[in-house]
Amino acid sequence: MVQPRTQAQAAVAEYNKEAPAKALVIIKNSEVPQPGPGEVLVHIYIRPVNPSDIFCLQGIYGGFKPPKLPAVPGLEGVGIIEQLGEGVTDWQEGERVTAVPWPSEHGQGTWQEYVCVKAEYLVRVPKEVSDEEAAQFLVNPVTAYGFLEDFKVPRNEYLLSNAANSVLGRELIQMAQRRGTKLINVVRRREVVDELKKLGAQEVICTADEDLVARVKEITGGRGAWCAANPVGGPSSKPIHQCVRDGGTVYIFSMFGDEVVVPMYDLHFRSLHVRGFWVSEWLSTLTRKDRQAALQAVMDMIQRREVTPPPPRKLFKLDEAPAAVEEAQRKSAGGQGKVMLISYLT
Ligand SMILES: NC(=O)c1ccc[n+]([C@@H]2O[C@H](COP(=O)([O-])OP(=O)(O)OC[C@H]3O[C@@H](n4cnc5c(N)ncnc54)[C@H](OP(=O)(O)O)[C@@H]3O)[C@@H](O)[C@H]2O)c1
Repeated sequence: MVQPRTQAQAAVAEYNKEAPAKALVIIKNSEVPQPGPGEVLVHIYIRPVNPSDIFCLQGIYGGFKPPKLPAVPGLEGVGIIEQLGEGVTDWQEGERVTAVPWPSEHGQGTWQEYVCVKAEYLVRVPKEVSDEEAAQFLVNPVTAYGFLEDFKVPRNEYLLSNAANSVLGRELIQMAQRRGTKLINVVRRREVVDELKKLGAQEVICTADEDLVARVKEITGGRGAWCAANPVGGPSSKPIHQCVRDGGTVYIFSMFGDEVVVPMYDLHFRSLHVRGFWVSEWLSTLTRKDRQAALQAVMDMIQRREVTPPPPRKLFKLDEAPAAVEEAQRKSAGGQGKVMLISYLT
């Protein structure tokens, strides 16, 4: 009898909000799945550790709803098509691909060696794009693109970008510059200001030693920013709302904190809007054609080096995922690239 092939997985065994690395268990002998009709089996060999992956481990990510635990997280990655399911004609074994989305919502994410994914979700990786770049194609570059498409900031107005030293913030600087959208970038550490300016940032405010609201008013001629993108909750979120024009919108797009502080005055008398932005939700509002055009536009920008996902900060083997999560959580790690998990092709 032929023995089923087995693979390694880093899986969530029990959610752990305080110590997410402890949520993980390494499973070394999980059966490699067979692709169903319309699916392909992808051998994944590199994937990043994103903040959103850590939220999955903490049990606070809305896009991770496995029917049971243990379940495999991992929102993105890159690999090689190993097997085609019935009816798949547009793809070939051996092609290098990423996918949008991977089936992580159902607990079959990229923190394992093999994933079956619908062929319609695959994205080809051009030869000019490295594995490390392709592995971080979806979460940040597509989100930055989605911000600019969705927020529709008029030419002479400003988008305020908080936590702008993040990988996402840096990619947004590159895309906004190309598109002619004006940004006010907000960081919490003075030492990163020059780096962002070298990337092309025009306006950078450091909250460690500047009055955020006063500086935004100064830059915008008193009007305030057209809208703001904010991933950070807690007391520091309060002035972000005060930086936005009357009738403007603050988009909340992360879980760095449990709640945001919105001044009642701004809601009551200034018609400020506060709403979420989630790349998965945004992609789901697009027609299939527009969705494919958006993904292709982002891949083209990476291929042309207009957007440059940073090299990995540190590589870990897949079975070292708990140590990788701890490394990814280190304070003030923004701007230094992603911690990544590798597994080798055999
Ligand atoms: N909604 C969506 O669809 C979506 C998609 C992609 C990403 N995101 C979110 O976007 C954010 C950036 O992602 P990334 O992968 O680019 O992250 P990253 O490179 O790991 O950077 C995280 C950034 O957050 C900053 N930060 C963390 N805690 C902070 C706090 N309490 N106050 C101020 N700044 C703080 C860090 O500042 P320092 O540089 O000073 O360390 C760092 O620049 C994450 O929150 C992620 O969840 C959301």
